[in-house]
Amino acid sequence: MIATAHIVDNSADTLIARFHSRRQYSLLLAEPLTAEDMQLQSMPDASPTKWHLAHTTWFFEQFILLPFVEDYQSPQPQFNYLFNSYYEQKGERHPRAQRGMLSRPTIEDVYAYRQQIDSAIEQLLTTNTCDELVSLMELGMNHEMQHQELLLTDILHAFSLNPLYPAAYNAKSGIAESSADNVSASEQFIPFEAGLHEFGAAPQADFYFDCEGPKHKAYVSSFTLAKGLVTNADWLLFIEAGGYQNPVLWLADGWGVAQQQDWQCPLYWRKHGDTWYQFTLNGLVPLTLNAPVSHISYYEADAYAQWKGCRLPTEYEWELAAREQAISGNFSEKQIFTPMPDVGEGVMQLYGDVWEWTRSPYTPYPGYKAPEGAVGEYNGKFMSGQYVLRGGSCVTPIEQMRSTYRTFFYPHQRWQFMGLRLAKDC
Ligand code: AVJ
Ligand code: FE
Repeated sequence: MIATAHIVDNSADTLIARFHSRRQYSLLLAEPLTAEDMQLQSMPDASPTKWHLAHTTWFFEQFILLPFVEDYQSPQPQFNYLFNSYYEQKGERHPRAQRGMLSRPTIEDVYAYRQQIDSAIEQLLTTNTCDELVSLMELGMNHEMQHQELLLTDILHAFSLNPLYPAAYNAKSGIAESSADNVSASEQFIPFEAGLHEFGAAPQADFYFDCEGPKHKAYVSSFTLAKGLVTNADWLLFIEAGGYQNPVLWLADGWGVAQQQDWQCPLYWRKHGDTWYQFTLNGLVPLTLNAPVSHISYYEADAYAQWKGCRLPTEYEWELAAREQAISGNFSEKQIFTPMPDVGEGVMQLYGDVWEWTRSPYTPYPGYKAPEGAVGEYNGKFMSGQYVLRGGSCVTPIEQMRSTYRTFFYPHQRWQFMGLRLAKDC
Protein backbone atom coordinates (compact mmCIF):
# COMPACT_ATOMS: atom_id res chain seq x y z
CA MET A 1 0.00 0.00 0.00
CA ILE A 2 1.23 3.49 -0.78
CA ALA A 3 1.35 5.42 2.47
CA THR A 4 -0.72 8.29 1.17
CA ALA A 5 -3.19 6.29 -0.93
CA HIS A 6 -6.04 7.22 1.36
CA ILE A 7 -5.83 10.89 0.36
CA VAL A 8 -8.09 10.38 -2.61
CA ASP A 9 -11.40 11.41 -1.11
CA ASN A 10 -11.51 14.97 0.11
CA SER A 11 -15.16 14.94 1.01
CA ALA A 12 -15.76 16.73 4.28
CA ASP A 13 -16.59 13.56 6.21
CA THR A 14 -13.40 11.78 5.22
CA LEU A 15 -11.28 14.79 5.99
CA ILE A 16 -12.97 15.32 9.36
CA ALA A 17 -12.45 11.67 10.27
CA ARG A 18 -8.78 11.79 9.28
CA PHE A 19 -8.35 15.02 11.22
CA HIS A 20 -9.84 13.58 14.40
CA SER A 21 -7.86 10.37 14.24
CA ARG A 22 -4.61 12.28 13.66
CA ARG A 23 -5.39 14.53 16.63
CA GLN A 24 -6.38 11.52 18.71
CA TYR A 25 -2.97 9.90 18.17
CA SER A 26 -1.31 12.80 20.02
CA LEU A 27 -3.59 12.11 22.99
CA LEU A 28 -2.77 8.42 22.84
CA LEU A 29 0.96 9.22 23.03
CA ALA A 30 0.40 11.54 26.00
CA GLU A 31 -1.91 9.11 27.79
CA PRO A 32 0.72 7.21 29.88
CA LEU A 33 2.39 10.46 30.97
CA THR A 34 1.60 12.34 34.18
CA ALA A 35 1.02 16.09 34.44
CA GLU A 36 4.51 16.39 35.97
CA ASP A 37 6.05 14.51 33.03
CA MET A 38 4.26 16.74 30.54
CA GLN A 39 5.69 19.85 32.17
CA LEU A 40 9.37 18.98 31.77
CA GLN A 41 11.70 20.80 29.42
CA SER A 42 15.08 19.07 29.67
CA MET A 43 16.98 21.38 27.29
CA PRO A 44 16.18 24.29 24.95
CA ASP A 45 16.05 21.97 21.90
CA ALA A 46 13.30 19.87 23.50
CA SER A 47 9.80 21.00 24.43
CA PRO A 48 7.36 19.87 27.10
CA THR A 49 4.65 17.42 26.02
CA LYS A 50 2.07 19.97 27.13
CA TRP A 51 3.62 22.57 24.87
CA HIS A 52 3.53 20.19 21.86
CA LEU A 53 -0.16 19.47 22.50
CA ALA A 54 -0.94 23.19 22.64
CA HIS A 55 1.33 24.33 19.80
CA THR A 56 -0.14 21.92 17.23
CA THR A 57 -3.59 23.21 18.23
CA TRP A 58 -2.39 26.81 17.88
CA PHE A 59 -1.20 25.90 14.36
CA PHE A 60 -4.71 24.88 13.25
CA GLU A 61 -6.14 27.98 14.87
CA GLN A 62 -3.68 30.43 13.31
CA PHE A 63 -3.34 28.93 9.85
CA ILE A 64 -6.92 27.74 9.31
CA LEU A 65 -9.52 29.23 11.66
CA LEU A 66 -8.12 32.75 11.64
CA PRO A 67 -8.05 33.14 7.84
CA PHE A 68 -11.18 31.09 7.01
CA VAL A 69 -13.69 31.88 9.78
CA GLU A 70 -15.27 35.31 9.42
CA ASP A 71 -14.58 37.60 12.40
CA TYR A 72 -12.76 34.78 14.15
CA GLN A 73 -12.41 35.29 17.92
CA SER A 74 -9.90 33.05 19.69
CA PRO A 75 -11.19 31.30 22.84
CA GLN A 76 -7.66 31.79 24.24
CA PRO A 77 -6.14 35.03 22.87
CA GLN A 78 -3.07 34.72 25.14
CA PHE A 79 -2.12 31.39 23.64
CA ASN A 80 -0.82 33.09 20.51
CA TYR A 81 2.06 34.43 22.58
CA LEU A 82 2.65 31.18 24.49
CA PHE A 83 2.43 28.64 21.66
CA ASN A 84 3.82 30.41 18.61
CA SER A 85 7.04 28.50 17.98
CA TYR A 86 9.02 30.65 15.57
CA TYR A 87 6.71 32.50 13.17
CA GLU A 88 7.85 36.15 13.09
CA GLN A 89 4.79 37.03 11.04
CA LYS A 90 2.53 35.76 13.84
CA GLY A 91 3.91 38.18 16.41
CA GLU A 92 5.94 38.14 19.61
CA ARG A 93 6.36 34.84 21.44
CA HIS A 94 7.45 33.19 24.66
CA PRO A 95 11.20 32.36 24.63
CA ARG A 96 11.85 28.82 23.52
CA ALA A 97 14.14 27.92 26.43
CA GLN A 98 11.40 28.97 28.92
CA ARG A 99 8.69 26.60 27.70
CA GLY A 100 9.13 24.45 30.81
CA MET A 101 8.14 27.39 33.02
CA LEU A 102 4.51 27.25 31.89
CA SER A 103 2.85 25.43 34.80
CA ARG A 104 -0.22 27.44 33.74
CA PRO A 105 -2.16 26.84 31.57
CA THR A 106 -2.62 23.41 33.10
CA ILE A 107 -2.79 20.25 31.04
CA GLU A 108 -6.58 20.29 31.52
CA ASP A 109 -6.65 23.80 30.05
CA VAL A 110 -4.64 22.55 27.08
CA TYR A 111 -6.97 19.58 26.55
CA ALA A 112 -9.95 21.95 26.67
CA TYR A 113 -8.24 24.21 24.10
CA ARG A 114 -7.69 21.20 21.85
CA GLN A 115 -11.39 20.37 22.02
CA GLN A 116 -12.48 23.93 21.30
CA ILE A 117 -10.27 24.19 18.24
CA ASP A 118 -11.13 20.69 17.02
CA SER A 119 -14.87 21.42 17.08
CA ALA A 120 -14.32 24.75 15.34
CA ILE A 121 -12.31 23.00 12.61
CA GLU A 122 -14.97 20.34 12.22
CA GLN A 123 -17.64 22.99 11.93
CA LEU A 124 -15.65 24.92 9.35
CA LEU A 125 -15.09 21.81 7.23
CA THR A 126 -18.80 21.08 7.03
CA THR A 127 -19.27 24.42 5.24
CA ASN A 128 -16.02 24.88 3.34
CA THR A 129 -13.66 22.46 1.62
CA CYS A 130 -12.01 24.77 -0.89
CA ASP A 131 -8.64 23.62 -2.24
CA GLU A 132 -6.64 26.08 -0.20
CA LEU A 133 -8.33 25.04 3.03
CA VAL A 134 -7.86 21.34 2.26
CA SER A 135 -4.20 21.81 1.52
CA LEU A 136 -3.69 23.73 4.78
CA MET A 137 -5.47 20.87 6.58
CA GLU A 138 -2.91 18.47 5.07
CA LEU A 139 -0.15 20.76 6.32
CA GLY A 140 -1.74 20.93 9.77
CA MET A 141 -2.01 17.14 10.00
CA ASN A 142 1.56 16.67 8.77
CA HIS A 143 2.66 19.25 11.31
CA GLU A 144 0.84 17.28 14.01
CA MET A 145 2.76 14.17 12.88
CA GLN A 146 6.08 15.99 13.15
CA HIS A 147 5.20 16.96 16.70
CA GLN A 148 4.05 13.43 17.53
CA GLU A 149 7.61 12.43 16.73
CA LEU A 150 9.11 15.35 18.68
CA LEU A 151 6.90 14.61 21.68
CA LEU A 152 8.46 11.14 21.90
CA THR A 153 12.06 12.23 21.31
CA ASP A 154 11.68 15.02 23.85
CA ILE A 155 10.17 12.88 26.61
CA LEU A 156 12.92 10.30 26.02
CA HIS A 157 15.48 13.02 26.62
CA ALA A 158 13.71 14.25 29.75
CA PHE A 159 13.39 10.74 31.21
CA SER A 160 17.05 9.98 30.40
CA LEU A 161 18.02 12.59 33.01
CA ASN A 162 16.07 10.75 35.72
CA PRO A 163 18.32 8.32 37.67
CA LEU A 164 15.29 6.03 38.16
CA TYR A 165 15.30 5.36 34.38
CA PRO A 166 11.51 5.37 34.11
CA ALA A 167 9.85 3.58 31.20
CA ALA A 168 7.43 5.92 29.46
CA TYR A 169 5.81 3.11 27.45
CA ASN A 170 5.53 -0.65 27.40
CA ALA A 171 6.42 -1.82 23.92
CA LYS A 172 3.69 -4.03 22.59
CA SER A 173 6.02 -6.39 20.74
CA GLY A 174 8.80 -6.23 23.29
CA ILE A 175 12.38 -5.26 22.72
CA ALA A 176 14.48 -7.42 20.45
CA GLU A 177 17.02 -9.83 21.88
CA SER A 178 20.53 -9.55 20.52
CA SER A 179 21.35 -12.42 18.27
CA ALA A 180 24.94 -13.12 17.41
CA ASP A 181 24.24 -15.20 14.31
CA ASN A 182 22.54 -12.35 12.45
CA VAL A 183 25.18 -11.31 9.91
CA SER A 184 25.34 -7.54 9.70
CA ALA A 185 24.66 -6.01 6.31
CA SER A 186 26.30 -2.73 7.28
CA GLU A 187 29.35 -3.50 5.15
CA GLN A 188 27.72 -5.30 2.24
CA PHE A 189 27.80 -2.76 -0.57
CA ILE A 190 25.39 -2.49 -3.48
CA PRO A 191 26.71 -0.76 -6.63
CA PHE A 192 24.77 2.00 -8.41
CA GLU A 193 25.63 3.25 -11.90
CA ALA A 194 26.33 6.88 -12.68
CA GLY A 195 23.48 8.78 -14.27
CA LEU A 196 21.25 11.80 -14.57
CA HIS A 197 18.09 11.41 -12.49
CA GLU A 198 15.12 13.38 -11.28
CA PHE A 199 14.83 14.13 -7.57
CA GLY A 200 12.32 15.75 -5.30
CA ALA A 201 8.55 15.70 -5.02
CA ALA A 202 6.25 16.13 -8.02
CA PRO A 203 3.27 18.53 -7.94
CA GLN A 204 0.82 15.65 -8.40
CA ALA A 205 1.93 14.02 -5.12
CA ASP A 206 -0.74 14.04 -2.43
CA PHE A 207 1.26 16.02 0.07
CA TYR A 208 4.84 17.08 0.49
CA PHE A 209 6.62 19.85 2.36
CA ASP A 210 7.76 22.81 0.25
CA CYS A 211 11.44 21.94 0.82
CA GLU A 212 10.96 18.56 -0.96
CA GLY A 213 10.51 20.36 -4.29
CA PRO A 214 10.72 21.45 -6.96
CA LYS A 215 11.43 18.26 -8.82
CA HIS A 216 14.74 18.71 -10.60
CA LYS A 217 17.52 16.80 -12.32
CA ALA A 218 20.91 16.02 -10.87
CA TYR A 219 23.85 13.94 -12.02
CA VAL A 220 25.05 11.28 -9.60
CA SER A 221 28.44 9.60 -10.08
CA SER A 222 28.70 5.86 -9.58
CA PHE A 223 28.68 4.86 -5.94
CA THR A 224 28.02 1.94 -3.63
CA LEU A 225 25.60 2.01 -0.75
CA ALA A 226 25.57 -0.33 2.22
CA LYS A 227 22.71 -2.78 2.34
CA GLY A 228 22.26 -2.32 6.09
CA LEU A 229 22.50 0.28 8.81
CA VAL A 230 25.52 0.53 11.10
CA THR A 231 24.63 -1.50 14.20
CA ASN A 232 25.35 -1.19 17.90
CA ALA A 233 27.83 -4.07 17.56
CA ASP A 234 29.64 -2.13 14.83
CA TRP A 235 29.68 0.94 17.05
CA LEU A 236 31.17 -0.96 19.98
CA LEU A 237 34.15 -1.79 17.76
CA PHE A 238 34.55 1.89 16.97
CA ILE A 239 34.61 2.67 20.68
CA GLU A 240 37.05 -0.16 21.42
CA ALA A 241 39.32 1.02 18.59
CA GLY A 242 39.54 4.42 20.32
CA GLY A 243 37.31 6.21 17.82
CA TYR A 244 36.27 8.80 20.40
CA GLN A 245 39.92 9.45 21.28
CA ASN A 246 41.33 9.87 17.77
CA PRO A 247 41.07 13.45 16.43
CA VAL A 248 42.37 12.33 13.03
CA LEU A 249 38.96 10.77 12.28
CA TRP A 250 36.96 13.84 13.22
CA LEU A 251 35.85 17.07 11.62
CA ALA A 252 37.40 19.95 13.59
CA ASP A 253 34.01 21.31 14.71
CA GLY A 254 32.97 17.83 15.75
CA TRP A 255 36.14 17.16 17.69
CA GLY A 256 35.58 20.44 19.53
CA VAL A 257 32.05 19.49 20.61
CA ALA A 258 33.07 15.90 21.44
CA GLN A 259 35.82 17.17 23.75
CA GLN A 260 33.75 19.89 25.32
CA GLN A 261 30.82 17.54 26.03
CA ASP A 262 33.03 14.53 26.75
CA TRP A 263 31.37 12.22 24.22
CA GLN A 264 32.42 8.59 24.74
CA CYS A 265 29.42 6.73 23.28
CA PRO A 266 25.98 7.41 21.75
CA LEU A 267 23.70 9.68 23.79
CA TYR A 268 21.65 7.02 25.57
CA TRP A 269 24.26 4.30 26.12
CA ARG A 270 25.01 3.54 29.77
CA LYS A 271 27.72 1.24 31.08
CA HIS A 272 27.19 -0.67 34.33
CA GLY A 273 30.14 -2.85 35.23
CA ASP A 274 31.20 -4.43 31.94
CA THR A 275 27.74 -4.40 30.45
CA TRP A 276 26.32 -1.83 28.06
CA TYR A 277 22.71 -0.76 28.34
CA GLN A 278 20.65 1.67 26.35
CA PHE A 279 18.03 3.96 27.81
CA THR A 280 14.87 3.75 25.70
CA LEU A 281 11.24 4.81 25.85
CA ASN A 282 10.72 1.34 27.33
CA GLY A 283 13.25 1.98 30.10
CA LEU A 284 16.85 0.83 30.49
CA VAL A 285 17.49 -2.34 28.45
CA PRO A 286 20.64 -4.32 27.61
CA LEU A 287 22.14 -2.97 24.40
CA THR A 288 20.66 -4.84 21.42
CA LEU A 289 23.84 -5.57 19.47
CA ASN A 290 22.29 -6.13 16.06
CA ALA A 291 19.93 -3.16 16.25
CA PRO A 292 20.93 -0.02 14.37
CA VAL A 293 23.00 2.46 16.35
CA SER A 294 20.95 5.53 17.21
CA HIS A 295 21.26 8.93 18.86
CA ILE A 296 24.55 9.89 17.28
CA SER A 297 25.44 13.29 15.86
CA TYR A 298 26.49 14.02 12.30
CA TYR A 299 30.00 14.46 13.65
CA GLU A 300 30.06 10.97 15.15
CA ALA A 301 28.52 9.46 12.01
CA ASP A 302 31.15 11.16 9.88
CA ALA A 303 34.01 10.03 12.15
CA TYR A 304 32.73 6.46 12.01
CA ALA A 305 32.58 6.57 8.20
CA GLN A 306 36.15 7.95 8.10
CA TRP A 307 37.30 5.12 10.34
CA LYS A 308 35.77 2.62 7.89
CA GLY A 309 37.38 4.32 4.87
CA CYS A 310 33.91 5.23 3.68
CA ARG A 311 31.69 8.29 3.68
CA LEU A 312 28.08 9.21 4.37
CA PRO A 313 25.72 8.99 1.38
CA THR A 314 24.34 12.12 -0.25
CA GLU A 315 20.60 12.64 -0.06
CA TYR A 316 20.35 11.93 -3.79
CA GLU A 317 22.09 8.58 -3.40
CA TRP A 318 19.73 7.67 -0.58
CA GLU A 319 16.67 8.70 -2.61
CA LEU A 320 17.79 6.68 -5.64
CA ALA A 321 17.95 3.52 -3.54
CA ALA A 322 14.83 4.25 -1.49
CA ARG A 323 12.38 5.05 -4.22
CA GLU A 324 12.64 1.50 -5.52
CA GLN A 325 11.45 0.16 -2.17
CA ALA A 326 8.05 -0.21 -0.60
CA ILE A 327 7.48 1.98 2.44
CA SER A 328 7.28 -0.32 5.42
CA GLY A 329 9.27 -0.84 8.56
CA ASN A 330 9.42 0.01 12.23
CA PHE A 331 7.44 3.26 12.44
CA SER A 332 5.52 4.92 15.27
CA GLU A 333 2.31 2.93 14.83
CA LYS A 334 4.06 -0.27 15.91
CA GLN A 335 4.45 1.43 19.28
CA ILE A 336 7.85 -0.16 19.86
CA PHE A 337 9.50 3.27 19.88
CA THR A 338 12.97 1.71 19.76
CA PRO A 339 15.09 0.80 16.70
CA MET A 340 14.92 -2.91 15.90
CA PRO A 341 17.37 -5.29 14.16
CA ASP A 342 17.01 -5.84 10.44
CA VAL A 343 14.48 -8.59 9.79
CA GLY A 344 16.38 -9.79 6.73
CA GLU A 345 13.92 -10.36 3.87
CA GLY A 346 16.29 -8.61 1.48
CA VAL A 347 15.06 -5.11 2.27
CA MET A 348 17.65 -2.47 3.07
CA GLN A 349 15.98 -1.01 6.17
CA LEU A 350 15.93 2.35 4.40
CA TYR A 351 12.60 3.21 6.01
CA GLY A 352 11.86 3.38 9.72
CA ASP A 353 13.99 2.55 12.78
CA VAL A 354 16.44 5.48 12.53
CA TRP A 355 16.77 8.62 10.43
CA GLU A 356 19.92 8.33 8.32
CA TRP A 357 22.42 11.17 8.28
CA THR A 358 23.39 12.25 4.79
CA ARG A 359 26.34 14.43 3.88
CA SER A 360 23.99 16.81 2.07
CA PRO A 361 23.52 20.24 3.60
CA TYR A 362 19.89 21.28 3.99
CA THR A 363 19.78 23.88 1.23
CA PRO A 364 17.10 24.83 -1.30
CA TYR A 365 16.66 22.68 -4.40
CA PRO A 366 17.10 24.60 -7.67
CA GLY A 367 14.06 26.83 -8.18
CA TYR A 368 12.84 26.58 -4.58
CA LYS A 369 10.80 29.50 -3.34
CA ALA A 370 9.24 29.58 0.11
CA PRO A 371 5.47 30.21 0.01
CA GLU A 372 4.14 33.70 0.71
CA GLY A 373 3.11 34.66 4.22
CA ALA A 374 3.74 33.13 7.65
CA VAL A 375 3.44 29.59 6.27
CA GLY A 376 6.57 30.35 4.24
CA GLU A 377 8.52 30.40 7.50
CA TYR A 378 7.80 26.70 8.04
CA ASN A 379 10.93 25.25 6.37
CA GLY A 380 12.73 27.74 4.15
CA LYS A 381 14.26 29.96 6.79
CA PHE A 382 16.13 27.03 8.36
CA MET A 383 18.26 26.37 5.28
CA SER A 384 21.55 27.25 6.90
CA GLY A 385 24.03 25.13 8.82
CA GLN A 386 21.95 21.92 9.00
CA TYR A 387 22.21 18.51 7.35
CA VAL A 388 19.52 16.38 5.71
CA LEU A 389 18.43 13.07 7.21
CA ARG A 390 16.27 10.56 5.35
CA GLY A 391 13.99 7.61 5.91
CA GLY A 392 12.07 8.21 9.14
CA SER A 393 12.38 6.43 12.44
CA CYS A 394 10.60 4.21 14.95
CA VAL A 395 8.82 7.34 16.24
CA THR A 396 7.79 8.75 12.83
CA PRO A 397 4.16 8.21 11.81
CA ILE A 398 4.30 6.08 8.65
CA GLU A 399 1.78 8.30 6.86
CA GLN A 400 4.48 11.00 6.68
CA MET A 401 7.05 8.88 4.98
CA ARG A 402 7.97 9.47 1.36
CA SER A 403 11.18 8.78 -0.56
CA THR A 404 11.51 12.56 -0.98
CA TYR A 405 11.04 13.47 2.71
CA ARG A 406 13.86 15.62 4.11
CA THR A 407 14.26 16.27 7.77
CA PHE A 408 17.12 18.42 9.02
CA PHE A 409 19.16 18.95 12.14
CA TYR A 410 22.35 20.66 13.23
CA PRO A 411 25.44 18.46 13.09
CA HIS A 412 25.94 18.44 16.87
CA GLN A 413 22.40 17.29 17.68
CA ARG A 414 21.85 13.73 18.89
CA TRP A 415 18.52 13.52 20.64
CA GLN A 416 16.52 12.47 17.60
CA PHE A 417 16.54 8.83 16.46
CA MET A 418 19.57 9.32 14.23
CA GLY A 419 21.79 6.62 12.74
CA LEU A 420 23.83 5.99 9.61
CA ARG A 421 24.52 3.88 6.57
CA LEU A 422 27.88 3.82 4.80
CA ALA A 423 28.56 4.74 1.19
CA LYS A 424 31.64 4.71 -1.05
CA ASP A 425 32.74 6.23 -4.33
CA CYS A 426 33.57 3.77 -7.06
C1 AVJ B 1 11.78 19.20 10.46
C2 AVJ B 1 11.89 18.17 12.60
C3 AVJ B 1 13.41 19.95 12.05
O1 AVJ B 1 11.63 20.20 14.67
O2 AVJ B 1 11.35 22.23 13.97
C4 AVJ B 1 7.77 21.24 13.66
C5 AVJ B 1 9.62 20.03 12.36
N1 AVJ B 1 8.47 22.22 11.88
N2 AVJ B 1 7.07 22.37 13.51
C6 AVJ B 1 11.37 21.01 13.78
C7 AVJ B 1 8.65 21.14 12.64
C8 AVJ B 1 7.50 22.97 12.43
C9 AVJ B 1 11.06 20.51 12.37
N3 AVJ B 1 12.03 19.47 11.89
FE1 FE C 1 5.71 23.21 14.98
